[in-house]
Amino acid sequence: MVDQQPIDPARIPTHVAIIMDGNGRWAQQKHRPRLYGHKVGVESVQEIVECASEWGVKVLTLYAFSSENWKRPSVEVSGLMGLLKSYLLSELSKMLKNRVRLISIGDTQRLPRDVQEVLERTIEETAENDGLILNLALSYGGRSEIVQAVRQIASEVLAEQISLDEIGEKLITDHLYTAGLPEPDLLIRTGGEARLSNFLLWQASYAEIYFTDTMWPEFRRSAFSQAIAEYQGRERRFGRTSAQLGSG
Ligand code: IPE
Ligand code: IPE
Ligand code: MG
Repeated sequence: MVDQQPIDPARIPTHVAIIMDGNGRWAQQKHRPRLYGHKVGVESVQEIVECASEWGVKVLTLYAFSSENWKRPSVEVSGLMGLLKSYLLSELSKMLKNRVRLISIGDTQRLPRDVQEVLERTIEETAENDGLILNLALSYGGRSEIVQAVRQIASEVLAEQISLDEIGEKLITDHLYTAGLPEPDLLIRTGGEARLSNFLLWQASYAEIYFTDTMWPEFRRSAFSQAIAEYQGRERRFGRTSAQLGSG
């Protein structure tokens, strides 16, 4: 056993975003259907949400279904939609107890009607909670998010509600699905691949990225605390030099 590095409670990342990858391969290694991996992956979601709440993370964004995942075989897509719906239904009481507020980003109009309804209801019922913000990225794609922001901004210009010189980084940020949320500090990808897969393209520009070979169904408390400990050991310079940071 490798000794666990303790995490510093005073320097918990405000916003953690996770690409939960590796469910299918994990199941296949065990000669089980891919959907079994997604089911066990839900248990990881439950544990990671609990840890994030307990450790004082303010926002946890989970990439649960990408705009490209619609291209998967329809049995897998419907299996995932079923798991999402049952997760939302079964977690509501825990969210209320732990003061977790659920929100979502993505083109959620594409989700099946019944899933949309449960999602909307859970969002409404947890809207007053002041604990962890659990942000589910569903039918989410970073490029299409930017496209819809550009369209909205263009229509505001055409309607003469804003002028061209008001278009800047802040205005674009405010037209993304994540408007109002802080940028991710730590972006984790499980499952061994080192790519963004269209996740938070604009928002992650200064996120600390942490790739791990651990498959999502096995990413639990100790793996999460290890990721946070590594994050805490990094120096975030935002373009400056180390010496500048030292002098404030
Ligand atoms: C991540 O696991 C979950 C979703 C994308 C919905 P995968 O299903 O991508 O698992 P692998 O990458 O094929 O192992
Ligand atoms: C990214 O994983 C999307 C989610 C985890 C929801 P994928 O498995 O879909 O990504 P690629 O296709 O390997 O890039
Ligand atoms: Mg994958």
